[in-house]
Amino acid sequence: MQEELAQVEATLETVTRSDIPGLQGMLQHVLSGEGKRLRPTIALLAGRFGEHRLELLVPLAASIELLHTATLVHDDVIDASDTRRGRLTANARYHNAAAVMLGDYMFAHAAALICRTESIEVVKVFSRTLMAMAAGELTQDMSAYQYGQGTMQYFHRIAGKTASLFATCAEGGAMVAGASKEWIEALRNYGENVGMAFQIVDDILDFEGDEEELGKPTGSDLMQGTLTLPALLLMERNPDDNPVKKLFRNKRRREHLAEAIFMIQNSDILDESYAVARDFRDRAVAVLEPLPGTPERAALVDIADYVIRRRR
Ligand code: IPE
Ligand code: IPE
Ligand code: MG
Ligand code: MG
Repeated sequence: MQEELAQVEATLETVTRSDIPGLQGMLQHVLSGEGKRLRPTIALLAGRFGEHRLELLVPLAASIELLHTATLVHDDVIDASDTRRGRLTANARYHNAAAVMLGDYMFAHAAALICRTESIEVVKVFSRTLMAMAAGELTQDMSAYQYGQGTMQYFHRIAGKTASLFATCAEGGAMVAGASKEWIEALRNYGENVGMAFQIVDDILDFEGDEEELGKPTGSDLMQGTLTLPALLLMERNPDDNPVKKLFRNKRRREHLAEAIFMIQNSDILDESYAVARDFRDRAVAVLEPLPGTPERAALVDIADYVIRRRR
């Protein structure tokens, strides 16, 4: 996919060009870091199931990466994070207000790019996804420090904030290629399940990952009051006396945080969380069944595997 991805990079490069003083530097800062470019890769691969129209796929893939990066710019303001993709976040390098407006500009630019697909159906999917993501982040914020939540609420939240965009990558690519309803549905389903696995692994890495390797801070979810799968499993196991409850009752108490992290790391909770992620991975691979056995399908399976094994 290298050549096609290079075209996506070139499109992103054009996005950074601006006459407005300062904006160009800000855009370059957030767009030229070491992002994995996973979402555009999925979109490009999905776009090979049908008539391959690179001139429409490249703007689609670039738009999705831009949208994704805009959500990260805002997410880092929300989470008060200072590193991302191995460098300073926009909020740390500039300031919160500037990062909010930069994110807005990027969302708007992503909308302009998606229109280049010339498909009102793709634009519809794009706007619905943006709503789902914003709703997911809002729900996360509104439910922060509430320890009464269950895993169903967690799955619902991550379906909105993360899986919806992965679903759109795969669905959008297939739509641009004019694939059949059955194939579009299969690819959308694939994206949705890969996205669920992806966020669960992200939430595991927040407990066991290496900051240097990840390029972003770890241990921050619980601190922000965000209940992710490992913390939910810990609560399920010790319903009465557990450090998560104590932490959420006395906001930001360092000792409880350290105890919760210790208990999660020294149990089989992370293994169990990986098992849940693998279930989503298996579903993602299974739903590809109606598609022909092409190298692109094999690459989608590889991506589903990578999502589980990734360390960054
Ligand atoms: C980070 O996504 C945000 C989540 C949904 C967890 P990625 O891990 O794909 O971020 P980049 O694009 O590679 O930096
Ligand atoms: C994903 O959640 C953020 C979005 C989908 C916008 P996280 O808050 O876990 O992402 P990271 O860990 O900061 O990348
Ligand atoms: Mg975050
Ligand atoms: Mg995270």
